[in-house]
Amino acid sequence: MKRVAILISGGGSNMLALLDSMAEAGHPATPCLVASNDPEAAGLARAAARGVATDAVDHRPFGKDRAAFEAELQALIAAHDADMICLAGFMRVLTAGFVTPWSGRMINIHPSLLPKYRGLHTHARALEAGDAEHGCTVHEVTPELDDGPILGQARVPVKPGDTPEILAARVLEMEHKLYPAVLRRFAAGDRRPVWLP
Ligand code: GAR
Repeated sequence: MKRVAILISGGGSNMLALLDSMAEAGHPATPCLVASNDPEAAGLARAAARGVATDAVDHRPFGKDRAAFEAELQALIAAHDADMICLAGFMRVLTAGFVTPWSGRMINIHPSLLPKYRGLHTHARALEAGDAEHGCTVHEVTPELDDGPILGQARVPVKPGDTPEILAARVLEMEHKLYPAVLRRFAAGDRRPVWLP
């Protein structure tokens, strides 16, 4: 059984989808911690309501000292004996100092069809480019931002009249299917990508 730490920054809808899936019989992973860089993140209360350990390491007091922030986050995750990390809407960029020791054991969901649109504002960028389709990607985390081996992708159509918000909601619905599907495989040691729908 793989012990999974989930890192969030906001509402945590992907985190909840992961918790739901890990509650299914025969799942190869179990949640050991939901942590955030924002003590007010709404997802923390949602995870606690499901009986999962929660904590926060507020990044703000650390200012520009990313290494000190990451050391505290690492200590928290180690204290919960995690085997792997799922980034689920975690909006801090992690440096190589944090990422490298977790190589092959940390995955992330990103709201674009990587390698397109690394970084922020992915939905607006897909619309501006006139893309006919958009989607989300789960990938292994490497020190390069939104890079690393692709473990799964889900596609959605871009429709006439889409705004970034409408498109984001369509993608998010697929994120909730893709991330659990990838975690189930990955936690069982299977790195073959998942393609949805
Ligand atoms: C999701 O759309 C996720 O893909 C995105 O943030 C949202 C979090 O929603 N992640 C990133 O942009 C990472 N760079 P959630 O808190 O409801 O899961």
